[in-house]
Amino acid sequence: MNLADLNKVALAMVTPGKGILAADESSGTIKKRFDAIKVESTEENRRDYREMLFRSTEAMSKYVSGVILYDETIWQNAKDGTPLVKLIEQSGAIPGIKVDEGTQALPQCPGELVTVGLDKLAERLKKYYERGARFAKWRAVIDIGSGIPTMTAISVNAHALARYAALCQAAQIVPIVEPEVLMDGDHDIDRCYDVTQRVLNKTFQELRVQRVELEGMVLKPNMAISGKKCAKQASVDEVAEKTVRLLKACVPAAVPGIAFLSGGQSDEEATAHLDAMNRIGNLPWKLTFSYGRALQAAPQKAWSGKAENVAAGQRAFTHRARMNALASKGEWET
Ligand code: 13P
Repeated sequence: MNLADLNKVALAMVTPGKGILAADESSGTIKKRFDAIKVESTEENRRDYREMLFRSTEAMSKYVSGVILYDETIWQNAKDGTPLVKLIEQSGAIPGIKVDEGTQALPQCPGELVTVGLDKLAERLKKYYERGARFAKWRAVIDIGSGIPTMTAISVNAHALARYAALCQAAQIVPIVEPEVLMDGDHDIDRCYDVTQRVLNKTFQELRVQRVELEGMVLKPNMAISGKKCAKQASVDEVAEKTVRLLKACVPAAVPGIAFLSGGQSDEEATAHLDAMNRIGNLPWKLTFSYGRALQAAPQKAWSGKAENVAAGQRAFTHRARMNALASKGEWET
């Protein structure tokens, strides 16, 4: 492993004024997104949609540091035969790849999941590196509910995240470590804070045990935020203040950067929260975005599967990317 090179890539991923486009929806998830805009989820439509994003020259060259791809996309070519990975590289952004293989029910833990995909991961990483991927992503999912999460779910998911991260670094690929605490329930922000604290502490403990080099990774956490169904929704300032406090307590300064997931927040909330955190300032790591829905909901709607809407889709994507890029510097204005 060349740690200096891993660190260089990690720092590039979190360059102030840029962030990551999470375009790695699995086949099931992209189908859900396409259903909402009444577009059939065919291989060609998925390609056309993602090609539209990657050919958004202004967004890609100015505001996007890296793109997380799904396995299908990394092997796909644009309509003119250019590999989609090449389009990303030509724009100056770094190609990345989602390498987990989704979740399975965790035995003895009703309602809880464990992320799988470690088998043969070393071989897969080698192929992805050859294709141009310089970073990867693995998402663990922790749900909050009555009696959950259990320490069992937190431990096994943290262990798998660290196994994945160590394998990535051995393959000269920067791991995005993503332990996502879902915002789906009716819990309040303080419960989210407590659970996320336990999850992050366990994750960094496992990363240390498995000798992952913190300088060569990027953390992708959820924010400390109220559950979607909670009657009392925390304000932007409370989310920012509590998330920064939580991260300062749990994330070593050796980590170059933190790139948040949007997790179901509205486009504007996701931007406002990131902006408010960066306005607090004096942080040991860079804070930016690695958004899926909060970057893509608007372009998906504008595009709606029609070739004549490509320019409108690209404008919508560029707008959200620019807003989040400003937020990554604490310079966003409503
Ligand atoms: P969202 O921003 O839509 O949560 O997606 C980010 C992601 O990559 C989740 O794994």
